[in-house]
Formats: sequence, structure tokens, C-alpha cells
Amino acid sequence: MLSCFFFLALLFGNVCLAQNNVSPVNTPIQKFYSSNFVNPSPPNITSEFRANYMQHKFDINVNNIVTGFMYLSPSQQKVRADGAADGSLEVSMFDFKNTTANGTQVANSILSFVGGATDPICSSFFLEPFVLLFPEDFLSQFNAVYAGVQHDDLYGPVTAWTFSRGDNLQVTFFLDTTNTLVRYDFAASDTLRTFATTRFFNIIPGPINSTVFETSCQ
Ligand SMILES: *[C@@H]1O[C@H](CO)[C@@H](O)[C@H](O)[C@H]1NC(C)=O
Ligand SMILES: *[C@@H]1O[C@H](CO)[C@@H](O)[C@H](O)[C@H]1NC(C)=O
Ligand SMILES: *[C@@H]1O[C@H](CO)[C@@H](O)[C@H](O)[C@H]1NC(C)=O
Ligand SMILES: *[C@@H]1O[C@H](CO)[C@@H](O)[C@H](O)[C@H]1NC(C)=O
Repeated sequence: MLSCFFFLALLFGNVCLAQNNVSPVNTPIQKFYSSNFVNPSPPNITSEFRANYMQHKFDINVNNIVTGFMYLSPSQQKVRADGAADGSLEVSMFDFKNTTANGTQVANSILSFVGGATDPICSSFFLEPFVLLFPEDFLSQFNAVYAGVQHDDLYGPVTAWTFSRGDNLQVTFFLDTTNTLVRYDFAASDTLRTFATTRFFNIIPGPINSTVFETSCQ
């Protein structure tokens, strides 16, 4: 099973500081140590898309690597992650409209095929999700800080935007030259010292057909 103990409904639960001055879509890549450098405004990003993904998450006890296909739909507030991990195949649905009263945990239902089984096991519960759902002006809402250009093995130069959540969580988004999210990392500097890096490729932007989120497991 994908151990999905993470991420943050916090992203939805908290009030965001709205900013009126959003920059044009294509923020020019700025190099450090150039004259007249100022922190650029965060760009809007492609937020509704489907893509292959691979994720590596680890802490002091857990090492979890999964690959598969993901559908992210802020407009429907749903995410589906189809994943293959060691010994299991599963379809994991997150419904961000269905949360615990305090808003920190999100409904997750998982259909899993374990050890070659032909009948899936259905489990549903609330948890802090390991996936993000974000509106297009998310980086601006969270006052993300420009952290320079890095070289990505798949995408070449990518811009890094970083922000913190809560007391101990640092999140970094990596955008390609079209401001498409191609990777995000998070690091939680608590006693478990959890880190996760998620890469997207074969990215298909655009609305997700709602039938993708239909499931027999609730
Ligand atoms: C939120 O509510 C859930 C379910 O009642 C609980 O397990 C969790 O600890 C709560 N989280 C916070 C931060 O209060
Ligand atoms: C909300 O999520 C819980 C836990 O996954 C599930 O049992 C319940 O059926 C869901 N409710 C709705 C209205 O989808
Ligand atoms: C950025 O996104 C916000 C929220 O969707 C929107 O109001 C704004 O017009 C967008 N800006 C640009 C430059 O596309
Ligand atoms: C959504 O998917 C269903 C089932 O595959 C299909 O019948 C329908 O035409 C699709 N709708 C759109 C708008 O693509």
C-alpha cells in the first residue's frame, strides 16, 4: 500500500494572503549575481493536468518508492493516483471536498491488488494526503520565494520556488520554461525527518474527465 500519511490539507484549511499583482505567465529565468536582481513575482502555474509520476518518500523508518499515473483536478477538488509499488497495484482517490471537521485530513479510498490477487481490496479513511492540489496562483498565494535555476535531468533548466508551511515543512516547486510543475519536494524537519520528491512527466494539461474519479470503493 502506498503509505500516504502526509501532506497538507493545510493548504486548503488556511487562509491565504491574496495578491493582486500576479506576474505574466512566463517569468524570465533570472540568474543569481546579476545586476538589478529582485525577487520575481511567482508565476501562475498549470494546475489541472494528468501525468505519469514517480515518487520517492523516506523518513527514519520508511522507504517508499512508487511510480504510476496521476490525475490532478483542482476544479473538482480530486486527485487520483494509480501506482505500482513492491508487491501491489492500486488506485488511490483523494476527495478534498470530504475532510475531517478540522480540515487537516482528507478522504482517501484505495483499491489495491496485492500479491497478484484478481479481486481488489477496498479501504477508505481520512488522512493527511501525500499529494497536493493547488490553484493556478498557488505560488503567489503562499508568497513563494524564487530559489534560482537548477538543472533537471529530464527538463533541463527549471526554476525553483520555495515556501514553508506550518512549523517544520518546507516545500519546493520546480517549473519548466512553460511554468508547468515538473517536480515538487517536501521536507518535514520533525523527529521523523520525512523527505519526498515527486516528478511528473508525459504531462497532459487540461480538464480531467470526471469519470476518472468514479470508483466502486468509498
Ligand atoms: C483533526 O481531526 C482528526 C480526526 O478527528 C484527528 O485525528 C487529527 O489529529 C486532528 N488534527 C489536528 C491537527 O487537530
Ligand atoms: C468521506 O470519506 C470517508 C472516508 O473515506 C468515506 O467513508 C465517506 O463515505 C465519504 N463521504 C462522502 C460523502 O463521500
Ligand atoms: C493567475 O491566476 C489568478 C487566479 O486564477 C487569475 O485571477 C489571474 O488572472 C491569473 N493571472 C494571469 C496572468 O494569468
Ligand atoms: C468522459 O469519459 C467518458 C467515459 O470514457 C466518455 O464517454 C465521455 O465522452 C468523456 N467526456 C468527455 C467530455 O470527454
